[in-house]
Amino acid sequence: MSEFSGPSRPSPSQTAPDQTSSDGNGKAEFGHLYNQSDPRDYFHTLGALDYRAPAHGEEIFAHLVDRRRQQLGRPDISVLDVCCSYGINAALLNHDLTLDALYDHYRSPDLAALSTDELVAADRAFYGEHRRPRPVDVLGLDVADQAVAYAQRVGLLRASSSENLETGDPSADLAQRLATVDLITVTGGIGYITERTFDRLLHHASTNGGCWVASFVLRWVPFQPVAEVLARYGFVTEQMSDRTFHQRRFADDAERDFVLGELEKQGIDPVGKEADGWHHSSFYLSCPPGTVKPCVADVLSGSSDQP
Ligand SMILES: C[S@@+](CC[C@H](N)C(=O)[O-])C[C@H]1O[C@@H](n2cnc3c(N)ncnc32)[C@H](O)[C@@H]1O
Repeated sequence: MSEFSGPSRPSPSQTAPDQTSSDGNGKAEFGHLYNQSDPRDYFHTLGALDYRAPAHGEEIFAHLVDRRRQQLGRPDISVLDVCCSYGINAALLNHDLTLDALYDHYRSPDLAALSTDELVAADRAFYGEHRRPRPVDVLGLDVADQAVAYAQRVGLLRASSSENLETGDPSADLAQRLATVDLITVTGGIGYITERTFDRLLHHASTNGGCWVASFVLRWVPFQPVAEVLARYGFVTEQMSDRTFHQRRFADDAERDFVLGELEKQGIDPVGKEADGWHHSSFYLSCPPGTVKPCVADVLSGSSDQP
């Protein structure tokens, strides 16, 4: 890891990763998948593009949960997964299941004809069979109210909120929950959420001994504005400098050209990464001073990126 000093904010015309292509800029559009009554279409479509972010998340977040438990001296810690969608990070963290197993499950012909209510019942049984002995308490935040409702009905999230912290302060109820959070996780969300959300989160989440923030961020999406806000709360951000993570394949040539153009503007070399047809993300860990470096060896040990 190296102490983070990233590129500056992108141009205002840059929207979130995977968002609209209506302005002809070439980014793929998946917004229609984010707020359905259950995750089957999400897994079908993103699976076809080999979306891998939650698998990388699980690998790193599990290490961080262990470190947090050791550091706090208690087994029960609370994780806030921001942009949690259908609770996929929680599913992987708390169950002996891989992302590929979830792809197989949600794309299975056996589940295709079920109603959402029937799928919820099937999923409660499915996850019940795979629950780890010491599950982590996961709170989910995502503007997709149907997605978080599904995750909560299935039992993946202890609590959830669909409040949009880009546009307003948290409710009293959410603010109270944020004060108990020990670790904040994000996969596939930076860009949709900006420093505005982190400012509102940290205002409440840093009050109770300080949480850690673990973020996977597409390489063409600058993290500097978020790191600057976190620094205002006394957090030091470090970037895992010797590894990037395959996120998913580009949806088409237009998306590839757009991303390569963004990288070029920021002076980031795509050779061996995006030039091979994949979005790549970087990992950032933000902690109160003195706690980042002890994590690094654990976070890195034995890990390697396989698409
Ligand atoms: C690419 S998906 C990532 C979902 C999940 N973390 C994963 O890796 O599979 C992006 C998510 O960000 C959510 N999102 C978009 N804007 C948001 C906001 N302002 N606050 C919270 N979540 C938001 C979307 O609803 C969507 O679920």
